[in-house]
Amino acid sequence: MAKTRIFADANLKIGTIDPNIYGSFLEHLGRAVYEGIYEPGHPAADGDGFREDVIALIRELGVPIVRYPGGNFVSGYDWKDGIGPKAERKARLDLAWKSIEPNEFGTDEFMKWCKKTGIAPMLAVNMGTGTPKDALELFEYVNHPSGTYYSDLRRKNASKEPYGVQYWCIGNEMDGPWQICGLTADEYGKKAVNTMRMLRWADAKKADEAGAVKLIVCGSSSVESPTYPEWDRVVLEHTYEEADLISMHRYYEYKPSSENPLEDFLGSADDMGRFIDTIRSTICYVKAKNRSKHNVYISFDEWNIWSQHAKRTAPDWIKAPHLIEDVYTFRDLLVFGGMLNTLLNNADIVKTACLAQLVNVIAPILTKKGGEAIRQTTFYPFRYASHYGRGETVRSISTAGTFESAYGSARLINEAVTYNAEKREVCVFLCNYAQEAEEIELELRSFGDLRCAEFVCMADNDLDAANTFAEPEAVVPSVCEPVSVKEGSKALFSVRPMSWNFLRFVY
Ligand code: AHR
Repeated sequence: MAKTRIFADANLKIGTIDPNIYGSFLEHLGRAVYEGIYEPGHPAADGDGFREDVIALIRELGVPIVRYPGGNFVSGYDWKDGIGPKAERKARLDLAWKSIEPNEFGTDEFMKWCKKTGIAPMLAVNMGTGTPKDALELFEYVNHPSGTYYSDLRRKNASKEPYGVQYWCIGNEMDGPWQICGLTADEYGKKAVNTMRMLRWADAKKADEAGAVKLIVCGSSSVESPTYPEWDRVVLEHTYEEADLISMHRYYEYKPSSENPLEDFLGSADDMGRFIDTIRSTICYVKAKNRSKHNVYISFDEWNIWSQHAKRTAPDWIKAPHLIEDVYTFRDLLVFGGMLNTLLNNADIVKTACLAQLVNVIAPILTKKGGEAIRQTTFYPFRYASHYGRGETVRSISTAGTFESAYGSARLINEAVTYNAEKREVCVFLCNYAQEAEEIELELRSFGDLRCAEFVCMADNDLDAANTFAEPEAVVPSVCEPVSVKEGSKALFSVRPMSWNFLRFVY
């Protein structure tokens, strides 16, 4: 059995983990909203049509913030279509997903759902067909207390109190040729900075005050985009002083037809780390060029596994079509766990992240119309990370071997170590990408006299295993015997081939 030594020290901190890295995303796409979180008439729906069985799963997942309403959808969306008496709302064409948007669920419904679930909203404004003025009017509707046309309209329609939305995405993937009214970096940079200034002026708080709005500019939508990473540099040069965060999006995919499909797929998590390195460098470059004292962070506000090669089978121009409802396998779970580790290992710069998406559409939760809601394989690593990956990430140094993937070299043992001083807990999230069991010699120094309180493992001989409505618990975590710790800091244990592991130590 091969052996990997992993060393971590409480003093070697990477950064404080912002709980908002466990955010998610709900787009008006397929059945994410309609038949996902909102299904009036469903036996588990409340008086507002919000599915409480779905809310229970989202609470279990531990999502603190949700981005809404898109995604590509937002670039053609007029938010004014989604407010006011439902009987008067108009159905519209959604060009992004070739669907009918009935507008039965809009901003006020989303805010009500957020309040019920205890989730913070992250709103995206339309930078495609929308203007800076439209964005300002949405801001006024949502955040201004009263005494203006849109704030009084909100008071009349839905809420006397302003919603106090803090996170604002200034458009979505504006570099993509698929984006409705996509822009060049220069055009977008100019439009974005003007919009951001208007939102800042409208905000009751000053930019650096606690609770002030956080503005997120669109970074490259993908490393495959021909304008990457030049787009990011140009956009940041226009917006640096106004931006709090720059967005990153990345989806990985298992491609059975590639030469080494498994290795290539397993290389995704390390590749995601290199993508972050590039954007980190671009931010540093613009900061230096601007002679700025201001910091811009990363909002990794779309990440997941998505089989993009799958063809659309749903008919065009219907409401809530079955679109991109990927069923996640155990193989996907392994890569997904590594991607979570990458986010944790960059906790100093990644301050928000959104698992794209939350329900039905490339999501950890699947629902049946009128029926049950189930947890996908990927639900579990996310749940453990969001509940226990809190506090700080500490640097881990490892002797892990490597393998070659289409993305370059990747580690066979992929781990993240988190330290929650308040809870007196040290957690290790570890993927074994080797096809054999691996012996792990772990040394966790300077934390205190540690004892292993929990060891959970997910392993499966069938990489295609998945949870389905017929068999919703085919892939679930197993509880293992906690490992013994010598001298309060050293543990020797083995992990199963191709496995995801979670160890929690307390002191
Ligand atoms: O999450 C699905 C889509 O992926 C989003 O609408 C878009 O932003 C991205 O390309």
